[in-house]
Amino acid sequence: MKIGILGGGTVGGYMGKGWTRAGHEVMYSSREPNSAKMQALAQETGATAQVGSVADTLAFSDMIAVAMAWDALPAVLKQAGKMPHKILIDATNRFGTPPPDSVGSAAQDIAHFTGAKVVKAFNTIGAEHYLNPVFAEQAASMFICGDDADAKTIVGQLAQELGFEVVDVGGLNQAVLLENLARLWVTLAMGAGYGREIAFKLLRR
Ligand SMILES: NC(=O)c1ccc[n+]([C@@H]2O[C@H](COP(=O)([O-])OP(=O)(O)OC[C@H]3O[C@@H](n4cnc5c(N)ncnc54)[C@H](OP(=O)(O)O)[C@@H]3O)[C@@H](O)[C@H]2O)c1
Repeated sequence: MKIGILGGGTVGGYMGKGWTRAGHEVMYSSREPNSAKMQALAQETGATAQVGSVADTLAFSDMIAVAMAWDALPAVLKQAGKMPHKILIDATNRFGTPPPDSVGSAAQDIAHFTGAKVVKAFNTIGAEHYLNPVFAEQAASMFICGDDADAKTIVGQLAQELGFEVVDVGGLNQAVLLENLARLWVTLAMGAGYGREIAFKLLRR
């Protein structure tokens, strides 16, 4: 699959490396695609990895993953325009104030701006764990939600390929729960002193 990653920072970089290892082709977007940093990221990711503008990345991709700072995102997505046929993974966490035209969670806002088949995922764990989500021999849970069943199946598959156990939480109206779960992860990791070597797991009897 050709996956366009909007943002080649921490989240984008680990997604790109993980999915390239799993056999997918990735393109990262950057405001400076030719920078030494982005070229080094492409090289570290693998021979098929590319870097381009947001427009290049959208044109390249079968599906999109959003891995950008929230402050920049509404403007970038509004400029990108509607993309009703695209599957879009929203891995962002919005810790600041919602935009004035917000319709709910960050994921619902992204769906509103783009019309894409949005699946909230990859936001409830430190991005470095995308490359190895196994903790004490147990696969971390990847909580996902979205309104399009086929899109969720594909995103779930991408999470499984990295080694996660997928937990489908329901429709996109549940994204607020995943966004709050991310707040809990950050609070545990940074504020409560547990550190970043932690993950959530749904246990079942
Ligand atoms: N870090 C984690 O462990 C983690 C885990 C889960 C979710 N998240 C969430 O995922 C999102 C990304 O986090 P991150 O840690 O990957 O952030 P980051 O390392 O700061 O990367 C952010 C990316 O956004 C791009 N960007 C920033 N301003 C932009 C603008 N005005 N126009 C276009 N691109 C812009 C930057 O690209 P250029 O500068 O190259 O243009 C950069 O690659 C955040 O919402 C975060 O809360 C983070």
